[in-house]
Amino acid sequence: MSPGEKLDPIPDSFILQPPVFHPVVPYVTTIFGGLHAGKMVMLQGVVPLDAHRFQVDFQCGCSLCPRPDIAFHFNPRFHTTKPHVICNTLHGGRWQREARWPHLALWRGSSFLILFLFGNEEVKVSVNGQHFLHFRYRLPLSHVDSLGIFGDILVEAVGFLNISPFVEGSREYPVGHEAPCSHALPQGLWPGQVIIVRGLVLQEPKHFTVSLRDQAAHAPVTFRASFADGTLAWISRWGQKKLISAPFLFYPQRFFEVLLLCQEGGLKLALNGQGLGATSVNQQALEQLRELRISGSVQLYCVHS
Ligand code: GAL
Repeated sequence: MSPGEKLDPIPDSFILQPPVFHPVVPYVTTIFGGLHAGKMVMLQGVVPLDAHRFQVDFQCGCSLCPRPDIAFHFNPRFHTTKPHVICNTLHGGRWQREARWPHLALWRGSSFLILFLFGNEEVKVSVNGQHFLHFRYRLPLSHVDSLGIFGDILVEAVGFLNISPFVEGSREYPVGHEAPCSHALPQGLWPGQVIIVRGLVLQEPKHFTVSLRDQAAHAPVTFRASFADGTLAWISRWGQKKLISAPFLFYPQRFFEVLLLCQEGGLKLALNGQGLGATSVNQQALEQLRELRISGSVQLYCVHS
């Protein structure tokens, strides 16, 4: 995509995420739009011959320290004569009550397809097409935004699906577009309006910049993530930088979701579903915005306003 070219319009409810093939374990990825009832995660892989255990964690965040909460920890263990699965929740650094499921239909050396189907109250897990277990949530599903896969497992593919392919508008997996790209804001920004940018950070990233411009190409407000020094900042029309004191949530080869909510006289920012405060912008300047410009070391999957 050439600079300045526009992305095709994308339906509002579009949240499909492209599948990932042969990721290197340990593997952590953002789940676009987080988890909600009706979403499915598919995991296809092989259990190595010398496997001891592996785990699939549906996490609330992806920081390494402090360790994020894990709403659902799915942990097949193979070191005993009877392979079994342990499920649990990690909350505030503490494991909760463990649940154990015997008769796991997974063996060392076998390939498998595991489906995690998220409902309102519980997650159901099927292994090779057979229902295997269900686990009642102990933490709100809406807090989950990351998937982590660790241990002795060869992952062939991870897929993110919706129960009904029609629910969220598209049957196709999205295709990423290299930044820069530009998106028109014909009416400017008004309180209540939301801008969503979803994408993947490239390898060896330098920066990721979202700027909002008016007709004269002045940018009264720009959001910038700098990988060199791991900072997030708002940049004013005159180039003044106001650092955002928040963890740096962009990582090479991980997905991200930036949400900008326009409110009276300002913009609120959320990154991967986490609120990161607001910046004030003159309401008239917001109404006069005409273009959303995204540049930097990212591949974009969805831009909408
Ligand atoms: C612990 C184990 C953790 C986790 C937990 C689940 O014994 O060290 O990795 O599997 O059990 O309850």
